[in-house]
Amino acid sequence: MHAQISPSILSADFTNLERDLHRISRADWAHVDVMDNHFVPNLTLGLPVVRRIIEVAPVPVDVHLMIESADRWAVDYAHAGAASVTFHAEAAQAAVRLAREIRSAGARASIALRPATPVEPLLDLLPEFDMVLVMTVEPGFGGQAFIEGTLPKIRRLRAAIDEQGADTWIQVDGGVSRSTIAQVAEAGANVFVAGSAVYGAEDPNAEIDALRGLAGE
Ligand code: DX5
Ligand code: ZN
Repeated sequence: MHAQISPSILSADFTNLERDLHRISRADWAHVDVMDNHFVPNLTLGLPVVRRIIEVAPVPVDVHLMIESADRWAVDYAHAGAASVTFHAEAAQAAVRLAREIRSAGARASIALRPATPVEPLLDLLPEFDMVLVMTVEPGFGGQAFIEGTLPKIRRLRAAIDEQGADTWIQVDGGVSRSTIAQVAEAGANVFVAGSAVYGAEDPNAEIDALRGLAGE
């Protein structure tokens, strides 16, 4: 399966965001982390800033909502033009309804799982989601170490998707780098978020190509 790279702009220079968005023009997506300082102990940006990012980004925007009021806000990001909207299973009151509303608003609907959240409750509901984001670190910060204990969850999810013939994608986010991407690809992920690995590189576009190659495209 074609490996897609979604660099996280959390590691970009927020005062030079347009420049840094153009540094990832060879990516498949631009990953935008929205944090509310409640669901996670960090605060980033919200709808007005994401609207401008969508306008200037050279690639489709993949919004990752790490917010408590997912049901209140997710659809607004779809209406703003995000091509994919991810909310957390632990935050949503009605995940299936929310996913359907996101799709009706024209975006891909995606559900995220913290490392300690089991995937089993989702396995009968896969057709409702365009993507499942398996967090490979605790959400909140860039630059954390990859948690290997998340690999069996990715494998279980991949097996269920293949068995059902579902076209749900598997995204991984956290600690993805040249040294970890091959094992997450082998476990079955096909969309790879990388923040510090891409923006810490001298040439972010070249790093994107390198990561895609290591993911076995
Ligand atoms: C963390 C965010 C990630 C973060 C990943 O909660 O969801 O998208 O930017 O950063 P790295 O790739 O540095 O682990
Ligand atoms: Zn993220």
